[in-house]
Amino acid sequence: MSGLRVTTAQTEELEPSQLVELTALCEASFGESFASAWERVGPGLHVMGELEGRVVTHAMVVDRRLYLGHEADVALDVAYVEHVATLPTVQGFGHGSRTMRRLGDIIGEAYTLGALATGRSQFYEQLGWITWAGPTSVRMPDGERLRSPTQDGHVMIFRTPRTPDDLELGAPISVDWRDGDSW
Ligand SMILES: CC(C)(COP(=O)(O)OP(=O)(O)OC[C@H]1O[C@@H](n2cnc3c(N)ncnc32)[C@H](O)[C@@H]1OP(=O)(O)O)[C@@H](O)C(=O)NCCC(=O)NCCS
Repeated sequence: MSGLRVTTAQTEELEPSQLVELTALCEASFGESFASAWERVGPGLHVMGELEGRVVTHAMVVDRRLYLGHEADVALDVAYVEHVATLPTVQGFGHGSRTMRRLGDIIGEAYTLGALATGRSQFYEQLGWITWAGPTSVRMPDGERLRSPTQDGHVMIFRTPRTPDDLELGAPISVDWRDGDSW
């Protein structure tokens, strides 16, 4: 959609006022507090879309590791997408898609694989994301894997030129535990 100015910044490059603006945007979109949301996911690369100087859409990637296979024998460093949000008043105009396409370009240039967990699979499918078909788990600090059945069918991946050809979409997949939602 024309008029959207898309910019990128690392978390540490954001002014405190920008973080306040992004927090308000995410809280309006998700309808929940984002007071500790940034610390929970850690620093990363933000893609922001501005209309008339106001950030109306946001998505970010953080570096995480995924473990694939029955023995979690393949470990991949991935771009994990978080906090995808468009202000409710301007949703449905293509702003979120535009931001996610830019993020997809960034993932494609720099990462082995993109990943995310969502309840909005259709939105991401249109943008080239693929639903992971295998069972999901969370890898605890001691290495044990705990099944996360509520996430089955909600984890998606984004292939890049570096993605292994033999990725089995039906294989078990796990992610490191973190405070709050691990996926
Ligand atoms: C998900 C979300 C980020 C999408 O942002 P958005 O700016 O509305 O995204 P888009 O406008 O690009 O796409 C939304 C829909 O409008 C459609 N659309 C895209 N461009 C369009 C256009 N120019 N005109 C009409 N519709 C359009 C898309 O196909 C998409 O369809 P879908 O609902 O079937 O997926 C937004 O709805 C949101 O913030 N939701 C709350 C938070 C959330 O759930 N985040 C994702 C969690 S993983």
